[in-house]
Amino acid sequence: MKVEDVKIVGVLGAGTMGNGIAQVCAQAGFEVVMRDIDKKFTDRGMESIKASLSRFVKKGKISQEEMDEILARIKPTTDMKDIADADLVIEAVVENMDVKKSVIKELNDIVKNQSAIFASNTSTLSITEMAAVSRSPEKFVGIHFMNPVPVMRGVEIVKGLLTDDDTLNFAVEFVRKLGKEPVVCKDSAGFISNRILMPWINEGIYVLYEGIATKEEIDKGMKLFTNVPMGPLELADLIGLDIVLSAIETLHRELGDKYRPCPLLKQMVSAGLLGRKTGKGFYDYS
Ligand code: CAA
Repeated sequence: MKVEDVKIVGVLGAGTMGNGIAQVCAQAGFEVVMRDIDKKFTDRGMESIKASLSRFVKKGKISQEEMDEILARIKPTTDMKDIADADLVIEAVVENMDVKKSVIKELNDIVKNQSAIFASNTSTLSITEMAAVSRSPEKFVGIHFMNPVPVMRGVEIVKGLLTDDDTLNFAVEFVRKLGKEPVVCKDSAGFISNRILMPWINEGIYVLYEGIATKEEIDKGMKLFTNVPMGPLELADLIGLDIVLSAIETLHRELGDKYRPCPLLKQMVSAGLLGRKTGKGFYDYS
């Protein structure tokens, strides 16, 4: 499969990552089918895409006409069968291996193009394990976008144990076609990005938990000390505390005790304080 052969991209999941991926694919000229299990999720996904594109229109980066054309290329659906004609499918469903395996098994029977590439946007889970239930493990690859997808340039390309070179090269070229910069690595828990980022965030939460500094001082300090755009607690709120917890738990399970999740992170997730998406995390967004 060559990038020029891709007409339709299927995106599974219309959440923060799924709708961002659908948007950047449509911006690059691909027809996109964005599928979620309930219309309320696809509706919310389309609203996010409109809000993001409107920001680009306001900044003069795209015209209103281009925005309308991009939106017209995205078909929201709740019917998995609408993915049948996709040449590339990127799954961005919940970070749960059983759920991911079950949607991949569904794809095996539904997608007509036998050369189609299947990709996962997982942030920490094993690409090799997902590939094992796909109909062609050599055509399975990790394509891991960063949040917010429309503005972040780096995309991690993850080579599973059986991913072949053609598929890896395809993923690299596809990401370039989206105007983003690919970074390649092997399949290992958390890849490059979250293996390094998640312990940084988790440690920021420990510093708060141990009463060493206030949340404001922690975030201000890390921005001033290391020139990052957001401190660890603000970034956790952007990513979603449930996603952070699930990522750090995977690292803990796979790589050992130095990734132990902070008890405060666990409590906040139990309390439903998930960050921006619920209106409250370390900070209040209401
Ligand atoms: N759509 C379109 N444009 C957007 C946008 C969106 N969703 N979000 C932000 N922007 C644009 C703004 O319009 C603005 O554009 P201009 O530069 O043209 O003015 C620009 O991005 C900057 O936005 P803001 O001025 O609103 O705010 P900011 O300067 O604080 O930037 C940010 C916001 C881009 C999120 C920045 O704070 C940032 O880069 N933060 C770090 C994000 C990060 O680390 N992401 C990775 C998370 S880890 C991950 O995703 C992996 C995982 O698996 C968990």
